[in-house]
Amino acid sequence: MKISVIGTGYVGLVTGTCLAEVGNDVLCLDVDVNKINLLKQGEIPIYEPDLEDMVRRNVSVGRLRFTLDQAECTDHGLVQFIAVGTPPDEDGSADMQYVTTAARAIGQNMQDYKLIVDKSTVPVGTVDRVRGVIYEELAKRGVEIDFSVASNPEFLKEGAAVDDFMRPDRIVIGADDDKAIELLRTLYTPFNRNHDRLVVMDARSAELTKYAANAMLATRISFMNELALLAEKLGADIEHVRRGIGSDPRIGYHFLYAGCGYGGSCFPKDVKALQRTARENGTGLKILEAVEAVNARQKEVLLDKIRARFGSDLSGKTFALWGLAFKPNTDDMREAPSRMLITGLLAQGAAVSAYDPVAMDETKRLFASEPGLKLANSSMSALEGADALIVVTEWKMFRSPDFSEIRRKLRNAVIFDGRNIYDPDSIRTEGFEYFSIGRP
Ligand code: UDX
Repeated sequence: MKISVIGTGYVGLVTGTCLAEVGNDVLCLDVDVNKINLLKQGEIPIYEPDLEDMVRRNVSVGRLRFTLDQAECTDHGLVQFIAVGTPPDEDGSADMQYVTTAARAIGQNMQDYKLIVDKSTVPVGTVDRVRGVIYEELAKRGVEIDFSVASNPEFLKEGAAVDDFMRPDRIVIGADDDKAIELLRTLYTPFNRNHDRLVVMDARSAELTKYAANAMLATRISFMNELALLAEKLGADIEHVRRGIGSDPRIGYHFLYAGCGYGGSCFPKDVKALQRTARENGTGLKILEAVEAVNARQKEVLLDKIRARFGSDLSGKTFALWGLAFKPNTDDMREAPSRMLITGLLAQGAAVSAYDPVAMDETKRLFASEPGLKLANSSMSALEGADALIVVTEWKMFRSPDFSEIRRKLRNAVIFDGRNIYDPDSIRTEGFEYFSIGRP
């Protein structure tokens, strides 16, 4: 099938590339000249496992192409995916200007039937809005051309996006006409294996499903984080509690890990946007207010523990920081707990020596003018002369380090673990003072 993808950000690029991988003829559009030039050479502007190889493979056989030309993009695809950004406005609502511009351009250029699919995470009602914009543009041209608009939210996790797209646990399709549903059913056939993973519904329900999924996951995390604080007070261990409740299939094991707070581009943004939608519609979502407040508080927990151990004046102290990205396998630092921690430590007069396997460039960009932040070449060199080690991202490479080397390099054998990746008993046997989340 001929597919156009508007927006080559995270979602657009993964969608376009994976659809090309199964044999579709895909053309991706972006307004960023540098990005398009890079992509044409098979290089990708983000870090995402397996994606670059897949881009190269499909570019080289001509199944995946990139353009700056809107008319060419509209002309190419029977299906037009809108995958542009919807950054939060100052008030937390999603900024829809790029989605509207994309819809307008389709309306201005289309010559025959198109199926327009919202792939971006967009407020409920966007399918109707996109339809309205396209009607407006067709009316201006004085033409009548048939088209459909559908919602097909993405559930990709950064760091596992290719796998999530190729082997989805569900494919949500929200459309109000049969033609759109049939086209999307055909398009997703290669990904719809073993049992029917298509969940077909009306457009508004599909749009709400995306927010509901992220809000539910964020709620689980905040619940566990708040419970972890209580566990600490009670002398209980949140990791035991997690296993104890996760074994109930109604609860399940996933997304029950207490830590130093959730970050990323989705949870914080979507939790805010959904609250706003609720407010606008005259109903509250009180539970999400708490989810947000608990998360903001949780991002300070490590700093509190550090101050409790070293005192509130941290001047002259250096802290080694392992992990900067908001989670492993990505260089994304949006809303990452590391950022608040670095800012907090520097504000208390401490120096920070940080290492992350892939987010170093991003850190450089974000903290360019911070003399107190040193970027180390390796996890071990970050420790040189530091007063303590703080682990913020659970990268695999941090899981079983050489503890005797860590002890030799640190001034004090102290570890703050924001992701509970070490076993408290064995790490104390190694001679460390160990502080983690929700464990005695
Ligand atoms: C999320 C959703 O999982 C995905 O379905 C959606 O499409 C986009 O948003 P992502 O933001 O890539 O994906 O990351 P995810 O793996 O969900 O982690 C989000 C945050 O929650 C991370 O900061 C992670 O460290 C934190 N987290 C996750 C916890 O603190 N505890 C957990 O148990 C799980």
